[in-house]
Amino acid sequence: MVKHRIKDENTVVFFDTTLRDGEQSPGATLSSAEKLEIARQLSRLGVDIIEAGFPAASPDDLAAVQRIAKEIGKEGGPVICGLARAVESDILTCWEGIKDAAHPRIHTFLGTSDIHLQYQTGLTREQAVARVREAVTLARSLCDDVEFSPMDAGRTETAFLIEVCAAAVECGATTLNIPDTVGYVTPDEWHETISSLIAETPGAGPGSGVIWSIHCHNDLGLATANTLAGVRAGARQVEVTINGIGERAGNTSLEEVAMAIHTRPQYYQLNTNINTREIMKSSRMVSNYTGMRVQPNKAVVGDNAFAHEAGIHQDGVLKHHSTYEIMTPESVGLQKSRLVLGKHSGRHALKVRLGELGYQVEGDALNQVFKRFKNLADAKKNVTDADLEALIADEFHKPEEFYSLTDIQVMCGTMGMPTATVKLSKASGENYVNAAVGTGPVDACYKAVDGVVKAETVLMEYSVHSVTEGIDALGEVTVRIEAQGKTFGGYGADSDVVVASVKAYLAALNRMLAVTGHGDTQPEGQAATINFTSS
Ligand code: KIV
Ligand code: ZN
Repeated sequence: MVKHRIKDENTVVFFDTTLRDGEQSPGATLSSAEKLEIARQLSRLGVDIIEAGFPAASPDDLAAVQRIAKEIGKEGGPVICGLARAVESDILTCWEGIKDAAHPRIHTFLGTSDIHLQYQTGLTREQAVARVREAVTLARSLCDDVEFSPMDAGRTETAFLIEVCAAAVECGATTLNIPDTVGYVTPDEWHETISSLIAETPGAGPGSGVIWSIHCHNDLGLATANTLAGVRAGARQVEVTINGIGERAGNTSLEEVAMAIHTRPQYYQLNTNINTREIMKSSRMVSNYTGMRVQPNKAVVGDNAFAHEAGIHQDGVLKHHSTYEIMTPESVGLQKSRLVLGKHSGRHALKVRLGELGYQVEGDALNQVFKRFKNLADAKKNVTDADLEALIADEFHKPEEFYSLTDIQVMCGTMGMPTATVKLSKASGENYVNAAVGTGPVDACYKAVDGVVKAETVLMEYSVHSVTEGIDALGEVTVRIEAQGKTFGGYGADSDVVVASVKAYLAALNRMLAVTGHGDTQPEGQAATINFTSS
């Protein structure tokens, strides 16, 4: 139960679903180690409930949830929740995933709108209510803390929502989560719906102990407004993700709801357990690990959220920050880089700084990062927080490596055709060398890589970002490729942007190969199309 964290009825509890709904963003697949690291950061951020995954989705998802339950779900820590469809096998697997947490929760759901009933499940309303009863009863027989969601509630008739929610509560649900699954509702409508549900659902009114929750998607850009409207109507749990990532246009952003409540105390008169100073760290970690960049003008965590460009604004802020800032950068954990780590810095200083940034790196992993840090410090004067975050993401954000980059050489300029030679190696030891000509250095490299990997892919997106200012900045590259109807993301960082580009491309290809299993078929050396040497 979350009760151990709710101080009073004026506290809104934060249910973070970055690791479940957020991970459903195309290309945002996270490794188990990355999920654990994000869960640890969510716990530092003060999230009350972490939805750690969908255990029945795959054995990997189950294992990741189990690890989070054991390592993060300790006494005094957040509730660890797993998602399950309203079917017996999902609920049993979900329980396997979370049962080792000190405070486990099963979250089960069923589509209740006529559209979902007619086209997706083929259930009648009576059958749907019966299914909810069975699912919640089973979940409650395993776990004291059970959340039920009538999926697509935003398009479900209120009278039927009341009937389904009443059935769920009667069978033991402790939280009723009302999702606007397709981002369809408006704030006024949502306020009315949630008010009616709270007032009219038998067994779930004020004083019943049942917590009402809101889960909104952002298809019309209204997710935060709708969530806050639900809170104004009496909901005391919000389901959110870091940076608002999630299915399609994403979910409600944690940082937006938390800062709205914190910035307008007189209006909302509500508390949260969120330590807002951890917001930026959480945002950067999720962005680095998922490869999903935050748009510069994103509220609270975008690069420009605290930047002032117009002369009149700069003048005002210099006179007093409150002229154009409704919250301080410090309140979300933003600070100008204090870091003056360089080539004279030692392992200890690096470890402490990484810890401050939210990364607990020890032992061999620390040695490895330290080696990379030293190389970078040799290549550029100051190594900043952003450089370190990019390094960490590059070091630990690696999918299973079918192919890794050994060497690369590029010729380009105005006097000829851009030509790249790449040497790739497989974990099993084979080496491949291939050269290709392209429209530019990156295109030439990608064509040379394609000649080795020989996979049918389409490059959907390529973006380069300089993580620091100045000529010696570390370049970050993110790519997205499509193969067999699926999207795969890749991230690479290096002080040479062409090398970063190839690393990012290989990371995406390795992810794709891990899923499609096409990685083992090339005999050594066959890739060479122009020059071939094997060593
Ligand atoms: O959007 C949705 O309806 C969901 C449910 C599983 C809660 O994510
Ligand atoms: Zn959702």
